[in-house]
Amino acid sequence: MKQIRYSAPGKVILSGEHAVVYGKPAIVCAIDKRLSITFVPSKKTIYQDEIFPQLEKSVVHFLKIRKETYKKMAYIYFVESTIPIGRGLGSSAAYCAVISAGLLELFTGKEWKKEEINICAYQMEKYFHKNASGVDTSTSIMGGLIYYRKEFEFLKTISSLSFTIPKQFVNSLLLIDSGKPEETTGEMVQNVGILYNKESEKVEKTMNDIEKTTKRIVLSMMKEDPSFFEENIINNQLLLEKIGVVSNSTKKLLFQIKKYGVGKITGGGGKNNSSGYILFYSDNLEKCKKELIKRSISFMPFVPSYRGLIKEL
Ligand code: PMV
Repeated sequence: MKQIRYSAPGKVILSGEHAVVYGKPAIVCAIDKRLSITFVPSKKTIYQDEIFPQLEKSVVHFLKIRKETYKKMAYIYFVESTIPIGRGLGSSAAYCAVISAGLLELFTGKEWKKEEINICAYQMEKYFHKNASGVDTSTSIMGGLIYYRKEFEFLKTISSLSFTIPKQFVNSLLLIDSGKPEETTGEMVQNVGILYNKESEKVEKTMNDIEKTTKRIVLSMMKEDPSFFEENIINNQLLLEKIGVVSNSTKKLLFQIKKYGVGKITGGGGKNNSSGYILFYSDNLEKCKKELIKRSISFMPFVPSYRGLIKEL
């Protein structure tokens, strides 16, 4: 049997992180950073870490539940990635997407539909955090701009939007690295859960406000209205601060660069130290970049991608 290689993109949550765990919608875009895995059939499987056998188990579990005929072939694998790890840009989701696609094909000898790979990848992502909403894996597999909502485990809306992020917005957006959070996404989701249990009414209201903001961000893109977009980026950030997923140093950084534009954290965030990547909207990107270089803060362009999971070999 020959080699199998799949690649999948990272993602940026424009609005709706955390709220999506509570059944609210999220608007998410795949980006041009990708992760790939190559499986090479071998005499003996060589795992590169202790997590991989667990991830493999979830593929086998998926096949058993579906009563599929499969053969657990031995393999070695190679991973390549340009997605920053553990900073809210969906590297673990892309990892789950390509492992699911690759191992499903290796063990059954056939290619699987994206919808089915997504179910397997979602179960696998739960290894990283058990309350995963599925938004990251869905966006990585589908690519493009996704409106996602999970009502129940059995009822999810994954809509590929027919419009794109206006070019003018894309040209004004930057991904700024506030640093790697001390906490994992799973821990941040858990922290929000603790707050929810303590102050249910207050958090429920914040989640409803995040839902409104998410819908307004979609509308701002449809109407190509940059000031409405900016206004809602600010609102989203304030609401995320309310649920305790933004660190003081990240708030300080946003304050220090506020004359260049507005931003929000994207993904799980972080409270103790850094909060991962910030999606930043600036009317004067060149001046903003100069300031970031002066402050030795790394950043990268926001480049949407319409390529989801792809079979490369
Ligand atoms: O994995 P991250 O850090 O990109 O965040 C995912 C978004 C959350 O809403 C925080 C968690 C989830 O599973 O939806």
